[in-house]
Amino acid sequence: MTKVAAVDWLSQAFLSDPYSHYKALRESDPVHWDETRGSWLLTRYDQVAAALRDDDNLSAEQGPAFSMLVTDPPDHTRLRSLVSKAFTARTVQQLGGRIHQIVDELLDAVAPRGEMEVIADLAYPLPITVIAELIGVEPERRDFFRRASQKIAVALGPITDPSVAMSAFEGRTELLQYFDELIAKRRADPREDLISALLAAEERGDFLSHQELLGMLLLLLVGGHETTVNLIANGLLALLRNRDQLELLGTEDGIEKRAVEELLRYDSPVQYSGRIVRNDFEMGGETIRAGDGVRIIVGSANRDPAIFAEPDTLDLQRDPCPHLAFGSGIHFCLGAQLARLEGQIAISAAVRRFPALRLASADLRWRPAPVLRGLEALPVTL
Ligand code: HEM
Repeated sequence: MTKVAAVDWLSQAFLSDPYSHYKALRESDPVHWDETRGSWLLTRYDQVAAALRDDDNLSAEQGPAFSMLVTDPPDHTRLRSLVSKAFTARTVQQLGGRIHQIVDELLDAVAPRGEMEVIADLAYPLPITVIAELIGVEPERRDFFRRASQKIAVALGPITDPSVAMSAFEGRTELLQYFDELIAKRRADPREDLISALLAAEERGDFLSHQELLGMLLLLLVGGHETTVNLIANGLLALLRNRDQLELLGTEDGIEKRAVEELLRYDSPVQYSGRIVRNDFEMGGETIRAGDGVRIIVGSANRDPAIFAEPDTLDLQRDPCPHLAFGSGIHFCLGAQLARLEGQIAISAAVRRFPALRLASADLRWRPAPVLRGLEALPVTL
């Protein structure tokens, strides 16, 4: 089997087109040992799907952690069941009206300017506002909340500058302090929000430690907006680069929903999940050993021609579209329904409101963060 040359995962060359590198791996070395990262890279759909579901051999646990994302059963099951009700399709549908309202306000604000920077003006403020309201952040603290989360978010990429790490630490401390205050208030005076629901669960005896409650709030905050930002911005970019597809929006029933599934497949906001091997096992003729790291590259599985015909073509009418952008198995994204709804509303509202929407620059830079795939900025004219 031909071995594929190592690449610099943080270079703009890789970031602007990771897919040709994934293709080479899928074709000639689908279970690849990456010496520089000290981990296995899985790139074929069937092996990616199998790995995401293989809880016997692979563990999500990463040291002492207090969040379900990096916890195995039974703790994972307990933590997830405490919040899963807040994220079911039915509960999330009820947020539709409010999401429309936020999107309309954001688009009203940019309309007179004749241009917008999609990330700062739409893709970032929408999910952070939605998750802040869901958690129960008080309206007068929303700006503080947004600034503190931004400090954490900057550090989700590789940290090249110590001031970024400092600022992330500061953001985390500020948020944890604020959550402590909010928890005390809601304990005394419960409202219809997620914090109050979690405190009620704790009182019913569904055990949730204080550390776990804070871990849960931070996970929902970071997971709830850093990814959805990229669904909206990567999605609009793909549509602007494929005008024939953009023009399909609004032409048939259900196209908005299908469009978002295809956009999630085509340029997945989360490119891979990490696991640690629990027991030795065989995959694709290789022995994967206990203690090894594994990167399960859903961004590559979603371009596998064994499952998706012409995988590098954006086709909003693709049906079915069994992408793995939200993972699979027990860690399947808890916020998938919410992300889908925000993506559908934001993308279709922007396209409908501004039919002449165009890219304002051909020079786009990707954030140096290979897990969360997103642009630094996406300037457009209206
Ligand atoms: C387009 C947007 C989103 C994408 C692409 C995405 C993707 C993912 C993926 C791939 C996983 C699985 C990770 C793994 O297996 O290691 C995951 C888990 C998770 N996501 Fe999302 N996510 C999105 C939006 C959201 C939102 C809006 C929320 C919350 C409000 C959220 C909350 C979570 C949580 C809590 C988990 C952990 C679930 C568990 O461990 O059981 N995500 N997400």
